[in-house]
Amino acid sequence: MLELPTHHVHLWCLTMNHCSCDLTFWANLLCADERARADQLRDQRDRSFFIWYRGNVRGILASYCGSAPQELQFRTGRFGKPELGAPFDVHQLRFSISHSSNRLVMAIVRKSEVGVDIEQIRSMPDLLDLVDSVFSGREQSVFRSLEESAKLPTFFSVWTQKEAYLKARGLGLNRPLKDIDVGLIPVEAAGLIRDGWDPSATKQWSLTAWSPVQSYAAALAIESGHWHVHHITDGSLSLWPHALKPGLDGAIILK
Ligand SMILES: CC(C)(COP(=O)(O)OP(=O)(O)OC[C@H]1O[C@@H](n2cnc3c(N)ncnc32)[C@H](O)[C@@H]1OP(=O)(O)O)[C@@H](O)C(=O)NCCC(=O)NCCS
Repeated sequence: MLELPTHHVHLWCLTMNHCSCDLTFWANLLCADERARADQLRDQRDRSFFIWYRGNVRGILASYCGSAPQELQFRTGRFGKPELGAPFDVHQLRFSISHSSNRLVMAIVRKSEVGVDIEQIRSMPDLLDLVDSVFSGREQSVFRSLEESAKLPTFFSVWTQKEAYLKARGLGLNRPLKDIDVGLIPVEAAGLIRDGWDPSATKQWSLTAWSPVQSYAAALAIESGHWHVHHITDGSLSLWPHALKPGLDGAIILK
């Protein structure tokens, strides 16, 4: 079983290789509902990716619970945030997942809420309209002062910070993004500056941003405190998915 002490975050960032992926392996980890959902996806790449990332989510969580991936039960919060259902909730694990293109990010903690988001940095023809609709007045004015080449990565860094924060709180996009103020990298540090709906949030939540691979922006939101963050990437996973086999789990190297 994988160990996860309190105040430690395991941040999994995995990439699907469409050519070498053993889809049968991952499909076998899904429950019947997920297999049916996969079958309904018409686009073959979308279907393969769904099977791969849902298989990974189950496999990873099962490694912390000491259970079979297929048996895990989930329930969802009011706005759709998934969590482990009984009897697996006994482990007090909290997790958040995000996927973009062929990447999956998953954050796992114990006894704390967590949110994660990843986006591929891609050109946005309607960038300025989006900035108008999701950036606060303060963010818009800092954004306008940026060099042109910094604008796109900054937009995605702001977007992922806001989504990670709302996902940590289980709200999804049910709150106007304009009411949340975050730091604009590269001229400011990532972080929650203001939540217009909850003035005490800046003391209760921490936000960090990073780039897991070139051309991707990601952010992690977590309840304030002292956290050890362990990145688990494809490169550190020579044993995955074989680590699912009993006896090898502990050999995963975290870096
Ligand atoms: C949650 C949400 C922010 C996802 O954003 P996204 O960039 O499209 O997708 P991501 O890959 O980053 O995240 C998807 C994951 O977020 C998680 N998620 C879904 N709802 C969530 C919520 N309310 N809070 C936290 N996490 C949530 C799920 O694990 C989901 O995985 P899945 O695609 O396998 O189901 C967005 O879909 C949303 O706001 N949903 C809320 C529901 C909603 O607004 N419904 C409209 C009702 S009228």
